[in-house]
Formats: sequence, C-alpha cells, structure tokens
Amino acid sequence: MRLTIRRPDDWHLHLRDGAALAAVLPHTAARFARAIVMPNLAPPVTTTAEAAAYRARILAALPPGAAFEPLMALYLTDRTTPADIDRARASGIVHGCKLYPAGATTHSAAGVTDIRRLDDTLARMAEAGMPLQVHGEVTAADVDIFDREARFIEAVLAPLVARLPRLRIVFEHITTRVAVDFVRGSHDGIAATITPQHLSLSRNALFAGGIRPHLYCLPILKTEPDRRALLEAAVSGHPRYFLGTDSAPHARRTKENACGCAGIYSAHAGIEFYAEAFEAAGALSQLEAFASHHGADFYGLPRNAGTITLVREPWTVPAGYPFGDDTLVPWRAGETLAWRLEGAAP
Ligand code: NCD
Ligand code: ZN
Repeated sequence: MRLTIRRPDDWHLHLRDGAALAAVLPHTAARFARAIVMPNLAPPVTTTAEAAAYRARILAALPPGAAFEPLMALYLTDRTTPADIDRARASGIVHGCKLYPAGATTHSAAGVTDIRRLDDTLARMAEAGMPLQVHGEVTAADVDIFDREARFIEAVLAPLVARLPRLRIVFEHITTRVAVDFVRGSHDGIAATITPQHLSLSRNALFAGGIRPHLYCLPILKTEPDRRALLEAAVSGHPRYFLGTDSAPHARRTKENACGCAGIYSAHAGIEFYAEAFEAAGALSQLEAFASHHGADFYGLPRNAGTITLVREPWTVPAGYPFGDDTLVPWRAGETLAWRLEGAAP
C-alpha cells in the first residue's frame, strides 16, 4: 500500500547546533518542507539577530539539493521587550515566540519566571499577530509531574487567553485530555501540536520491564485515557490540532545516565510514526490534514506544493546514529516500523 500526501511541516522541532545539527537535519529535511525550530540552545536564541544567524547555520548544514525552510522562533525571557517583537515581525523570518516557564525543561533556565512581567510584550505580539508557542507546564516542585499541564491551564493559560483574547497561541506538545478539551473549547486563535510519542504510548511504557530512559520526555507520557483523547483529537479533522514531533536529540551518554536528559528523538521517522498511529486508529485518510494543512493554515503560511509518498513496507530502525563524538539512540531503535518514506535512506 502507498500513501501520497502533500509535503508536511513539523511545527515543533529541536535541531540543536554544530555537529548535532549536522547529524539530525537530513532526517527532517527528507520529510518536512518546513519546521518551527525551537530556540532552546545554550545560550538561547533571544533576539532576531541571533535567530538570523542560527537560521543561516541551519541552511549551511543542509544536505546538497535539500529544500527545507527553517521557521525561527524567539525564546522569551523576563527581559523581552515590545521592541524585540517589532524587530522579529519586521524580519519576516521569525514566526513565533516561545514561552518556557523557567525550569520547565531542557535549557529553560533563562525562561520566564512570571508571565505577568511580559504583559506589554505579549500585548504587542497580539497586535502584531505573532503567535506565542507555549511549553504548558507549571514548575513548582510540589506539583505532581503528571498534573503540571492541567495546573498550567488553570493557573496560567486560561487567564492569559482571557486577558489577551487576540493573542494567537500554540499550546505545544499537549499530553492530556484536559488540554485537548481546553483547545477544542477555546476560540479560533488557540491551537495545539501533538507529538507521535504521546499518540502512541502511555506512561506504562516508561517502566515496561525496567526504566526506559529513551522514552523520557517532557511533558512526560500520561495515562492511556489521555493517549486516546489525543489520538481522537489528531484524527478528528479539527483544524486546530496539528503535527509537531518535538524530536529532541540528546547524546546517548546524557540519556543513559543517573540523571538523564528529557527528550525523544523521532526525526528519523518523523512522519512514519504518525502514519502508524493514524492507521491504528483507522484514520489514515486524516493524516494529510493533520500533517500538511492545519499548521500552515494556523500560521498563515501557504500549504506546501510538493508531495511525499509513504509505503507500507517494514524496515528496521538502526540501533544508533552518529552524533558528534557520541551516538544518538532513536525512538524504536532496533524495532520494525510498518511505514517507510519512499526514497529515504534509513
Ligand atoms: C526538549 C529538549 O530536549 O530540548 N525536551 C523534551 O523532552 N521535549 C525540550 C522541550 O520541548 O520540552
Ligand atoms: Zn520541544
């Protein structure tokens, strides 16, 4: 069986920099025409000038002949000003600003400590039509890790939507039924990305036969009813749910560690994983809208012109990919996937 769809985009991606960037970029560029590139480098990408320089490094790292457009995002800090937003908007290369609550995830230490400090900046984003991309978890140490997204909706997101009804928001990598319902019940300016791992796995997978560091990501995997709610939303055809892999590469030694990093690498099969999940839900016909239409429409960008073809033909994911002086262990390493991308090397 073959499935040809309009070329998709990845609306939430970590590409890193330097040797890591060179190692992972070909996987994404083979599948996706564009991606929103997360700005959580160390140090973070906080200005338009830094975003332009990072964009140039990404373009320079592309394999010859690859057609891929990085869509840049700025990392909001307590010091991001309305003038920073004006510069970002004027550049034409910045397509959003990312809110990392300080301490929420990998490289978020420079993130926002209290969103109310950014009222003027967020108001300028609303005026300029610049989307806010949100890592939606509270960070207080006494909040249970499985409740952090739901608490964020209550404490931060719902009040923000009420305060700034014109602000366009992408609730990134949603993981719970509560988040699915929040997005569906909100106005047209509120959308969400969904990762392949949250469509396919529940938290049991983290402990299947022993602790599985390569399945640790943030927000953490949730319950089976949450997973089913996400899958229903993804295949529903609702225009405000769309693809964002959150592919987040980390070197093997930093994952297989007494204090392992959060992040699942999925770019090597970034569309194939979704095909598998949609097929399991009996909804392959909905894949194209989720992967190739809804995100572009929300961001106000044209849908891509070309196509990709997926073939239902098993292949085995390599045990690892070279990653600078270490190895990158991809999601489902050593396992068989049902779908492969026509013309792609494994
Ligand atoms: C991401 C990373 O490694 O940069 N990790 C992750 O678990 N998703 C950061 C993020 O998106 O939270
Ligand atoms: Zn991410």
